[in-house]
Amino acid sequence: MKRPQKRLIGPFKEIITMAEASQKGALAEDALGLIKKGGVLIEDGQILEVGDYKSLKNKADQTELIKGDHILMAGLIDSHTHICFGGSRAGDYAQRVAGKTYQEILKNGGGIHDSVNKTRAASESELTDLVKMRAKRHLEEGVTTIEVKSGYGLSVDEELKMLQAIQSANALVPADLISTCLAAHVCPKEFDNHEAYLNHIVENLFPILKEKDLTNRIDIFTEDGAFDTNLSAKYLAQAKEAGFEITVHADQFTSGGTQVAVEAGAVSADHLEATSDEDVKLLANSETVATVLPGASLGLGMHYSPARKLLDAGCCLAIATDWNPGSAPMGDLLIQTALMGAAEKLSIPECIAGITFRAAKALNLSDRGRIKTGQIADLISFPVNDHREIFYQQGKIKPDGVWKNGTRVV
Ligand code: NIG
Ligand code: FE
Repeated sequence: MKRPQKRLIGPFKEIITMAEASQKGALAEDALGLIKKGGVLIEDGQILEVGDYKSLKNKADQTELIKGDHILMAGLIDSHTHICFGGSRAGDYAQRVAGKTYQEILKNGGGIHDSVNKTRAASESELTDLVKMRAKRHLEEGVTTIEVKSGYGLSVDEELKMLQAIQSANALVPADLISTCLAAHVCPKEFDNHEAYLNHIVENLFPILKEKDLTNRIDIFTEDGAFDTNLSAKYLAQAKEAGFEITVHADQFTSGGTQVAVEAGAVSADHLEATSDEDVKLLANSETVATVLPGASLGLGMHYSPARKLLDAGCCLAIATDWNPGSAPMGDLLIQTALMGAAEKLSIPECIAGITFRAAKALNLSDRGRIKTGQIADLISFPVNDHREIFYQQGKIKPDGVWKNGTRVV
């Protein structure tokens, strides 16, 4: 048998390892775990060692030489997206800037329902191509792990079509796509009773998801106009009972969802624009990751979620794009993190943690997000000579090197 090759990548001006940064709470400069003039030794797609480039040289079978000044960090993780959709909602945007609210548009049968019509009209292979195209763009911008939700199908067959498209796209792009079933996005027009629709999903979709191994994650939109807290709690308990991990769209416009998420033991509670001080405490005392979505605030012209408050209370804070055709069409994780960071006064390590190892926790993954022995070698490099440039330039500087499992893909 051939001995696996040890490959050294470097030298890098600085490596942001985040090796020992804590999983929860505020982070100061020392959390970066900076290594100057560093290299990363890789074997079999995993990080074997990270340290001084020169000292690692004699342990390597091969070297991948990096020319010019570069800063290396872990591949980005976007733990909340809806990039499987057909059509556009530019019409909603025009209505919103003319004064209609997101929820009014939804109540009048537009919004999410409009994307449901357009996604139902797309074939599975068209959706596969769309997910592939968006995931590829994300990968080129340094996002090596991407969560992707269904939720524009809202029937057993249409949700299956979406999840199958996500699974097919995963095989076509060298990023990891982690799927989530969001059949409980809103109640489809075919049902006039929310509870009957959720029961239908539990009875008829959940078993197929397990049988076909299409996802192990279930999400619900807990909100006025979507699903109330009682129905959400019941649905999440049923999902857990069926063996799924659970996550919640919580407190986007009204509070209540966070309490449901924490009580149900959700891996994450996402949105949190309307989260109360009580909810912040609940999150801080739980293992539920608080995921904030600056892209939705930017898209809807709303205030940001209280990221500073969540960190100071001791929460594990993840930052994700929420990339979707309605509230968050931009889908740029780096720019959004930089903008929210400036507004909410997040330190550079807090920004980085939110889009790397803390986002990994929101997906229940512990094998990625730090540059450290044993982690998978998902890495990105920026053509700058000081790590502070990345967020200082407001995310406009993109990585010029992306490695997935140790292989250079960009
Ligand atoms: O996270 N709020 C609910 N769902 C998505 C938006 C979906 C849409 O508008 O199409 C969100 O913002
Ligand atoms: Fe969302």
